[in-house]
Amino acid sequence: MSHLPRHIAIIMDGNGRWAKQHKLATALGHRKGVESLREIIRYSSDVGIAVLSLYAFSTENWKRSPEEVSALMGLILDFFHSEIDELDAKDVRIRIMGDVDGLPEKQARTVRSAQERTENNKGLQLNIALNYGGQAEILRAISALCEKVIKGDIKCQDIDDALFQQELYTAGQPMVDLLIRTSGEMRISNFLLYQLAYAEMLFPQVLWPDYTVDMFKKDLETFGGRDRRYGGRKA
Ligand code: IPE
Ligand code: IPE
Ligand code: MG
Repeated sequence: MSHLPRHIAIIMDGNGRWAKQHKLATALGHRKGVESLREIIRYSSDVGIAVLSLYAFSTENWKRSPEEVSALMGLILDFFHSEIDELDAKDVRIRIMGDVDGLPEKQARTVRSAQERTENNKGLQLNIALNYGGQAEILRAISALCEKVIKGDIKCQDIDDALFQQELYTAGQPMVDLLIRTSGEMRISNFLLYQLAYAEMLFPQVLWPDYTVDMFKKDLETFGGRDRRYGGRKA
């Protein structure tokens, strides 16, 4: 493959519509979605992608019915319990992006332990956004920098892109090269607002549970053909 993105972000959208299409309960759409996720993680790890960021639950998703929220919370536990051994064996390093304290206690404990267990792994960096909002992430970074200024660790005029990036969940990682959002919606929905600055974007017209590794490969090829200029001009 010509030119792989270092950091891929995915908004895994369309589970609800998939369930509706198949006349199934919404929860079953989410369950089916986990299968796509498993395949995409496996492939990304095998092919040597550096960073994969997956949007699993936004700060706005709490607005959904208690039944749906609880089905999603259940899936989080199932996912970590069933996948952690394989992910660890594949040297995947897990980082949770988002407010873990705002998750139910069991989920918080489970995701923290997955993060700790894999923190020294050297393979695919897997960021899972849970109770995540891009605006909240930026505000949190500003607040952390303010604290440092007050303590006298840094001066206001020291604040630059590098210092700011250190306060994001993606600290130490490259910015997003490729954003994929399935289901045909063309919006960011509060994902990685800062990190997407120069990301290439693809919006495959397929619901997340129907998204396959072959489609992912095609999307990676499309990315390889993109001309990225970062505001400059090529001769
Ligand atoms: C995305 O699928 C998964 C989550 C938001 C957790 P949706 O549930 O948003 O699917 P649609 O958009 O209703 O089809
Ligand atoms: C974004 O999808 C969040 C996740 C995929 C986890 P949504 O379905 O929640 O976003 P909107 O409501 O269509 O913008
Ligand atoms: Mg949706």
